[in-house]
This record gives sequence, C-alpha cells and structure tokens, in this order.
Amino acid sequence: MAENGEVEPMAPLSNDPSEPIRTMKRSEPMAGRNGFEEPASKRVKLDLDRADITEGTATKPERQKGVTPIKAEYLIDLSRTAEPTAQADDDAAESAGKPEYKQAQGQASAGRGGQKTKGGQNHTRQFGSSRDAIQLCMSRARVNEFAPPSCSFGAKCKFEHDLRKYLQDGKRGDLETFEGMCPILEVKGKCTAGWRCRFAGSHSKEVQHEDGRKELMLVKKNGETVDGDAGAEEGEEGIAVANVVSVGDKIQLRKKKFPTSKSEQYLKWLDQRMNNGGNSKAEDGNDEATNGVHENRARYREPPLKPSEKRRIYYGPETPILAPLTTQGNMPFRRLCVSLGAQVTWSEMAMSLPLLQGEKQEWALMKAHESETLPPKYTPKAIVQDYDNTKDLKFGAQIAANKPWLALKTTEVLTSLAPSLRAIDLNCGCPIDLVYRQGSGSALLDAPAKLEKILRGMNTVSGEVPITVKIRMGTKDKHPTAEKLSRRLVLGGEEAQDAGEGPAGVAAITLHGRSRQQRYTRSADWEYIADCASLVQKLKTQKAQVTDTVREPDARDLSSSVNSAGLPYFIGNGDILSHTDYNDHMSTGKLDSCMIARGALIKPWIFEEIESQQYLDKSASERLGYIERFVRNGLEYWGSDEVGVGTTRRFLLEWLSFSCRYVPIGILEVLPPRFGDRPPAFRGRSELETLLSSGNYKDWIKISEMFLGPAHKDFNFQPKHKSNSYEIEAEG
Ligand SMILES: Cc1cc2nc3c(=O)[nH]c(=O)nc-3n(C[C@H](O)[C@H](O)[C@H](O)COP(=O)(O)O)c2cc1C
Ligand SMILES: [Zn+2]
Ligand SMILES: [Zn+2]
Repeated sequence: MAENGEVEPMAPLSNDPSEPIRTMKRSEPMAGRNGFEEPASKRVKLDLDRADITEGTATKPERQKGVTPIKAEYLIDLSRTAEPTAQADDDAAESAGKPEYKQAQGQASAGRGGQKTKGGQNHTRQFGSSRDAIQLCMSRARVNEFAPPSCSFGAKCKFEHDLRKYLQDGKRGDLETFEGMCPILEVKGKCTAGWRCRFAGSHSKEVQHEDGRKELMLVKKNGETVDGDAGAEEGEEGIAVANVVSVGDKIQLRKKKFPTSKSEQYLKWLDQRMNNGGNSKAEDGNDEATNGVHENRARYREPPLKPSEKRRIYYGPETPILAPLTTQGNMPFRRLCVSLGAQVTWSEMAMSLPLLQGEKQEWALMKAHESETLPPKYTPKAIVQDYDNTKDLKFGAQIAANKPWLALKTTEVLTSLAPSLRAIDLNCGCPIDLVYRQGSGSALLDAPAKLEKILRGMNTVSGEVPITVKIRMGTKDKHPTAEKLSRRLVLGGEEAQDAGEGPAGVAAITLHGRSRQQRYTRSADWEYIADCASLVQKLKTQKAQVTDTVREPDARDLSSSVNSAGLPYFIGNGDILSHTDYNDHMSTGKLDSCMIARGALIKPWIFEEIESQQYLDKSASERLGYIERFVRNGLEYWGSDEVGVGTTRRFLLEWLSFSCRYVPIGILEVLPPRFGDRPPAFRGRSELETLLSSGNYKDWIKISEMFLGPAHKDFNFQPKHKSNSYEIEAEG
C-alpha cells in the first residue's frame, strides 16, 4: 500500500492573482425587473460597457451560428482538444444514471405485486468499488480500542476486530487534503466514520493510561475523547437530512404489509366503475379506456374519497426551479444549488415499484438536505389564496409510474413516510426507451385519459401534499400534444366533466419545450411553451370567474403569478443558461416560473445570477470553491470512509462532465451565452480556468484528486458519452 505522498497540494481557494477582478457596469438598468431588489454589488463582475457588446451599436460583432463567440485572444488551435459533443452527451446523460428498469414497471401488468427489482442499480456503466483492503467490523468502527467487545456475531464475524491491524494493513493512509482535517469533524463536532474515516488521524490519538497501557482513542473537535459510540447520539446521518425512512418501514413495504387503505378503497371503486362499463381491459391503457365511463355516465357513483385540502405552494419569478436530474441531482449537488439561490428542488426521478417494495436505493432518492426543507422565497405582494409561506418548502419528490394502482399506492406511502415533501411530481417526460416501453414517463403523454386518472387518484390519496406533473411537448416531432393536455389538466377531460368530476387537481404543470423524439436536438420551443402558458392563463381566468361566484374576483388573483382557486401554476423549461434567458421567458407574463436543468449543472450560480440580475464572471478559483463545497457536501452525505470518498468522487466526476462545458462569461465576445453553441478550442485566463474547461475525463480525475487524493485502485469511471470503459490510474 502506497502512501498518498503524491497528492498535489490543494489550489488556493480564496484568491487567484492571475485573474483580474473587474467591475461591471450593466448595459441597461435591470433593477426592479421581475420584482427583484437592486442587486447587492458583487466582487467579481463583468465589464459589459464595451462598445462592441452594447446593444444597438453598429460595432456589435456578428454571432456566427452554432459557434460560441469566444474572444480572439483566447482561441487556440488545438486539434487534440476533445470536447464532448454536447447534444449526444445530454441524451446519454439523461439516460445514463437510470437503471435498466427491467421489470420495474413492465412487470406491473402481471398484477398488483410485481417482482423484486434492483431499483437504482445501473447495469450498463460500472464504477468499480472503493473499499478498504481489510474491513473493520462496525462494532469497532466508532469506539475506542479498549471498548468491550460488542459484535453480535462473535467469533463468526467475518470482519476485522483488531483495530491496530486494520489501521496498519487494512486501509490506505490518511488524506492530506483539507489540510488533513476531517471535514465532518469540522461541521458535526465529531466524526461518525470513526476509524474508517480517511482523515481519522485528525480525530484520534494514542493515550497512555496510568497502568502504562496505550489505547487508540477517538477525539471530538473540542479535544475530548469520545465516550462510547461516536455515531450513537445523532445516528449516522445526524440531523441534517430529512425524509429518512426506517429499516422497519422498508421491511414492512417489502413484505407488502405497509397500509395503503386509501388507495385500495379508491382503486376498488375505479375497478367497479370500469367493470360497469364492461371494459376492464382498457383500464390499463389508452384513450379508449374512457369510453366505458362515457357510456355509463348514468351509472356514475360517487368516489369513496374526496381529495383532502392541499397545502398551498408558491411559484413566482423569484423562485427559479432546479429540475429533477437523474444521477446529477443528488443531494450534495442540490444543496450546493440551494446555497446559490435555487428556490425549488426536485428529487431524481424515483421508480414507483422499487419504492413500493422498500428498495433502499430508491428510498435514498427521497432524502432532502435540511436547507431544502426551508420555505422558498416569496414576495407577499403576490397574493395567493390561503398560502402560508412558513409551511411551504423547497424539496419535492418526482416519481414515475405507468398504472393507477402503482402511482396511487406509491403516493400514499410517500406521504406517510416522507414528511418533508413540497409536492409529488409525476414524470411524463422521461424519454428513455425502457421507461417509455413500459408505459411510464413520456409514454403517458399519449394516454391522456389514463394520465388524468392517475393524477386524479394521486391527488385523492396524497393528503395535504399537492400533486404536480412534468410533461414534454409530445412524443413525436411536429405533433405537439401538450396544449391539448394542458387544457385537459386545467378543466378535466370531457368524460370527467360529464361525470361532474372536474379536473384532476394538479397544482402545477411544467412543460419542457421538446418532444420525446427530439431529445436534445434543436432548441426548446419557447413559442410553443408561451402558447400553452397563454391558454392555461386564459382557462384559469375563465375558471376562476365561474367558480368564484361569491367572492368578487380580484384582478391580482387572476394574473399569471397568482394561483387562485387552486388552479395549476404553469412552468416553462428548456435551454436556460443565464438570467437573460430567464428574464426573457418570464417577461411574457404568462409563466409562473422557469425550471433549469443543464444550465444549473454547467453553472450552479445561475441561480445567483437570476437573483442578482447580472452576469457573474466567476473566477476559476471561485469555481474550484464550488467543487470543494460539493465535495464537502458529498463526504458529509456519503461518508468520509473509503466507500464514501469513492462515491463522492464518482458523482463529482459526473458533475464535472457538465461543468466543463462552462465558457467563462469574461472570455465571450457576445452575450448571452447560448446552449446550441459549440466552443472552438480555447484557453482560460489561468491554468486553472483551462483545466476546468477540459472535456477530458483524466483532467476531471485530476480535479477530484485535489480534494479526494488518488483514486482507489478498484475505482473505475466510465464517461457517459463513451461506450468503452476507462481504468483510472490509481496509486499502485
Ligand atoms: C442528466 C439529466 C438527467 C435528467 N433527469 C431527469 C429526471 O430524473 N426527471 C425529469 O423529469 N427530467 C429529467 N431530465 C430532464 C430535465 O429535467 C429537463 O427537463 C431537460 O434537461 C430540459 O431542461 P434544460 O434545457 O434546462 O436542460 C434530465 C436531464 C438531464 C440532462
Ligand atoms: Zn464483528
Ligand atoms: Zn473523519
């Protein structure tokens, strides 16, 4: 086992003298736009005062279509720079993290049980494993050397109980990054990874007792030695994580013993209704399914349950939304985005069946950082009926489901086990083949009656938790269906209206302005998004006037940023890369807010830009500072032991595969930056800036080593846009 002597010293995070700090004079006054306050002055700003980029001047350089307009002095002729192709990359990225769902969904048609699946497991990309050579028994991991034996397996235990042996031969040497100080110790006061921590040296010492014996002891930040188990008091994850579900509850789920009585009652009623219509087969399927209901209007029976009163949520210009992002939208990343101004966050898409079966990995996706459980920003000027900002929170869960029973039961279980949910969103946009073929994700766009039924049912069993939906323009290019679907979601489908049922009751509709077929080719269609938004706005206005016969309709209640009478908010999504894009879309006055996905991965401070209403020319050292923050968040969440360091590294590399696409604002000739543009080879204003722009995964590993030291010999990373696997040069 080699020492970590080759670790490069961490680059200074505070100041990068190679990067001049310039002051920005904005080319046009931005204050007050979208109701934002005048931004506080920023340390790093951009000089937009140059004649050549001032709007309306004759000297404004032409933008070459499809090419990032980089200032000449930063261009280099480097044919060997291998930038990943953006579009192919995004398609791969969106699919990459998701497991082969195997039977996760398709199974469902076999009955309401389904087989066990490996939810959350990725069968196509392999990342190796980072483990200690000898594994220390958990009973010894967080106690002092002389603590009495407590392993329940006794002599049969296959893990190591000899602490000195483990430290000597079982684990790699301590990391020297973070100045050798355990980052967990810093925030929690003691380290829950104990001896297995890669920074264990910073929280342990050898103490000589009066009888002369020397004991290896764990110490807390305040210098006191740990008494008992270092992890005992606050549990493994401390208090910073919400929606942690107990092992007991997961076992109940696995044994199908967890109660879902509301769903069962409702599903029984649905079944009876369908049977009356004599068309039970169509229950699972398509539009035809509703014909039965249509014909049997006369035999309509009241549903056994009515939706409970929902907690009101708020969306406005001041609440930019971080999109649900499989793999990438993990908690450490979301936490970073929240710290930079994201006001609403979503879990990675979770599959319903593995949730319902108590799969650990799928439930892990529901965990939220405490910062995500705080209310989003809210300008009290925007009056929303019965809205209580203190009861609102940032984090919501997104699920995928293909059948009413699956969606309902999952919703019911989620609302009983995960107390900190702003809303539950049904994914109707996922383009991945496996998901689509099983009738989930974007396949639901072509089964609007079923979709409506699912949403209505979810809304009925979700208690006070609002239900939302994320859609695409449609499945096929040139055949957008989202407008019609939005109408259905606001008013209720014809058959529902006939039956007097009203709309499904979603609290928000998010539209990604692309079709399934399109994937990430071409730009998102914001004209179409605006058309849908207009329609929804119009319908809402009409509806509010009709519904609200008693109360004098208040004009403010009918404006776009106001959610009156529980009618859905409308959110746009696609290609937002700066506050300028955000403002442009918001300025139509038809959208309640916008959602950002890749833009946040490329530059998480996009939320700060939106808040401060200006371009922020982040220096390379500041960007490295965000990477450090992600790593700290990661170690805190995944652990600072060998496994946790490996997991943190893997997800850091995933993120770097996006963040390398950032082209610093300060080296652009023309603004705003655009998604469709591809950068010619360029160098940064410092070596570090150049490194951060590298599309070569080996450079990403180099960056990871600045914080996490050399990779474990068994660690492996497969860049998602390459089919083959790359071994990482780990220490020998
Ligand atoms: C890596 C990646 C993962 C994604 N995962 C999800 C997901 O789990 N659920 C979802 O609804 N959309 C997912 N999407 C789609 C985004 O939420 C978003 O709708 C899309 O990327 C368009 O927004 P953008 O142009 O801002 O990136 C994903 C996209 C990417 C690139
Ligand atoms: Zn043991
Ligand atoms: Zn530690």
